[in-house]
Amino acid sequence: MTAMLYPSTNPAATEAMVVTHGEGPYIYDNKGKQYLEGMAGLWCTALGYGNEEVIEAATRQMRELSFGHMFGGKTHPAAMELADKLAAMVPMSDARVFLGNSGSDANDTLMKLVRYYAEASGQPQRTKIIAREKGYHGVTVASASLTGLAPNHAHFQLPFDALGVLRTGAPHYYRCAEPGESEADFVARRARELEALILAEGPDTIAAMIAEPVNGAGGVIIPPEGYFEAITAVLERYGIVLWDDEVICGFGRLGTAFGADRYQLRPQMMACAKALSSAYVPVSAAIVSGDIVDAIAGPAAELGVFGHGYTYSGHPLGCAIASKVLDIYQRDRVFEHAATVGAYMEQQLQRFADHPLVGEVSVMAMIGALELVADKDSKRAFEGMKVGQYCAKAAEDNGLIIRPLGGNRVALCPPLIINEGHVDEITNKLGRALDATLDFVTAEGLI
Ligand SMILES: Cc1ncc(COP(=O)(O)O)c(C=O)c1O
Repeated sequence: MTAMLYPSTNPAATEAMVVTHGEGPYIYDNKGKQYLEGMAGLWCTALGYGNEEVIEAATRQMRELSFGHMFGGKTHPAAMELADKLAAMVPMSDARVFLGNSGSDANDTLMKLVRYYAEASGQPQRTKIIAREKGYHGVTVASASLTGLAPNHAHFQLPFDALGVLRTGAPHYYRCAEPGESEADFVARRARELEALILAEGPDTIAAMIAEPVNGAGGVIIPPEGYFEAITAVLERYGIVLWDDEVICGFGRLGTAFGADRYQLRPQMMACAKALSSAYVPVSAAIVSGDIVDAIAGPAAELGVFGHGYTYSGHPLGCAIASKVLDIYQRDRVFEHAATVGAYMEQQLQRFADHPLVGEVSVMAMIGALELVADKDSKRAFEGMKVGQYCAKAAEDNGLIIRPLGGNRVALCPPLIINEGHVDEITNKLGRALDATLDFVTAEGLI
């Protein structure tokens, strides 16, 4: 036991695994055991570990300028280059980029920009944000308030009322559909519920709706066909901004540059992090469309300042690394590669639908999850998280990292650089873990 207080961990727990090094899609623990990193760390190490080009770019930047800040309009070449590259990539018009260090702080930045925009555009009451059940947007006070998962609220008195977070249902057909409801009817109901919420609250009090294209930490929830068309039609009717959380889906995860491309969304705000730097260092981007920046420019000029910024906004190391990572994505056609290998992963994971423990297989390109259930026909769930945790541990014993999520779903989100052979390795090891879990639940009398 060391002095560490671990994030997102039972404080009574001791060190579970000491990872000492990584190479490509593999990591190694302090006993020399190799694991295929089926979660890309925390959904983030898209290029895998030890990429020499990235390391070189980092070293060069550290030698050249190890720190530079963005306050008062000071800047440096690495930040300007990164902002321009990002603005050219996103499906947004005249995009402007605010750099930070994490997905949570990008969402916090956008939360403030929403409020600033409301005041600046003469609608100071338009500050409420619609967020969804099972959405994950971070853990700072504001971003955790947007998050729709109970463990991120418990004992913190979150969400804070003053933040005006409204909650609408998750796009999870398997768990949230009513008996006999078709996918199309479920989508229509979700759209009706959203509209009812907007009307009940007053459309002119609502600024934005935040959504992940595919919910990650909430269970890898793939929205049913037509979901985003139905939702965005409602938002457009009431002039509500679409705030797209691309922290997991951005940069190839769904086989397209952004989740927004996969679903043909035109967001006005976007949060990016994780694969932006392939997690070589912490970098995030809060991106807004030009009309929002134009609206806030006037009042900000009067105030003399847009009073928000982090010491490490636009840190040169992060910018140089992210810039290099974006170049590699483009040169090596990493998103196309993710689409091809992802199609294979979809096929292979779907085969687990026949496993006696698997209630739902949810997979899109390079992200997926299996929900483990006590009874497939009735969808009876196991209590707590024990079964998913057992399965993740069994996978680990077999040399594969997966992640247990709420609802006994186990997630996969491998580095984008893996090939079909790695997918086979994942499915073989996962199959063994599922069989071990079946033995466990049978022995424990849980099914
Ligand atoms: C969709 C999404 N948004 C925001 C965040 C928060 O990012 P961070 O952990 O870098 O603060 C995460 C983290 O997993 C995420 O998955």
